[in-house]
Amino acid sequence: MEERRATAAARANIALTKYWGNTDDALHIPANESISLTLEPLRTLTTVSFRSDLAQDRITLNGEAPPSPTAERVRRHLDLFRGLSGTSWKAGVTSQNNFPAGVGIASSAAGFAALTLACAAALQLDLPPRELSRWARRGSGSAARSIWGGYVLLHTGSDEEAVAEPLHGPDWWEVYDLIAVLSRSEKRVPSRDGHRRAATSPFHAARVAQIPEMNRRLRQALAARDLAALGEIAERDALMMHAVMMTSVPSLIYWLPATLTVVEQVRGWRQDGIAACFTIDAGPNVHVLTLPEHVPAIRAGLKANPAVQDVLVCRPGAAAKVVTEPHD
Ligand code: PMV
Repeated sequence: MEERRATAAARANIALTKYWGNTDDALHIPANESISLTLEPLRTLTTVSFRSDLAQDRITLNGEAPPSPTAERVRRHLDLFRGLSGTSWKAGVTSQNNFPAGVGIASSAAGFAALTLACAAALQLDLPPRELSRWARRGSGSAARSIWGGYVLLHTGSDEEAVAEPLHGPDWWEVYDLIAVLSRSEKRVPSRDGHRRAATSPFHAARVAQIPEMNRRLRQALAARDLAALGEIAERDALMMHAVMMTSVPSLIYWLPATLTVVEQVRGWRQDGIAACFTIDAGPNVHVLTLPEHVPAIRAGLKANPAVQDVLVCRPGAAAKVVTEPHD
């Protein structure tokens, strides 16, 4: 038996301006540019082993066989790399998240970034980061950003152009993301299906038209390390994206009543002079962005909210990387 094997780690990211809707659904070409922060310690560790003796791909995510749509996406990703390297070998894939499963934390970004890196390393494809970002995007749009650490911009454009680039490394600015976990159930409509619905909302085109100016202001806020300016943009785009979701056909409402209780808390903190803002992805959980000195008070405030089941404290994280086995 011959084997080509590698392990890679990648982190989740939170979008400050969102990727929602594609101009090409199959290639995951985003309708607009988005800017994110890579999150430590939310990490996926993935080992890929292409083997001469396997009759079919064997996929294990968090110790279990994944549901068939997920397994199919992973298989399609392996096919991409088989095509790139000219091999027909099937592969074993073992992937483990270090964050609890089913807490509504998107794992596809970290998952497809780690899978991309592990496939490229196993097959000894010497791909530059922008190529890795492009292939990661084919798995999940937001995964293109998780190739990089820190503050990251995902472009739109052609298949070659729609890749992520780093704006600032993780050490540039210590912004914390406190994730208020409000529900542990799986989201009913995966973002993949949500992207396809975006253009059915009359607000989609209006939002996309606003984004270049918002990204320009967000980049200024990041360069100036200005949390109030960052918050204005991040909150506005989270609300615009959810307005698009809610007014799509069929309508998508990811929020729970509890979501608004956390939004109210954040507004209250701000009135009290505490630097904090919120963003919300395709789920009910609220991400509270703040500065290191406010973390203890905000964490305590979130824990005191009876609707909050858990609080995950995240800070800027590093780029995806190949790691030496056994799992380190
Ligand atoms: O990469 P996907 O298909 O899971 O889409 C990500 C969608 C959001 O998380 C809602 C926004 C974003 O930019 O990450």
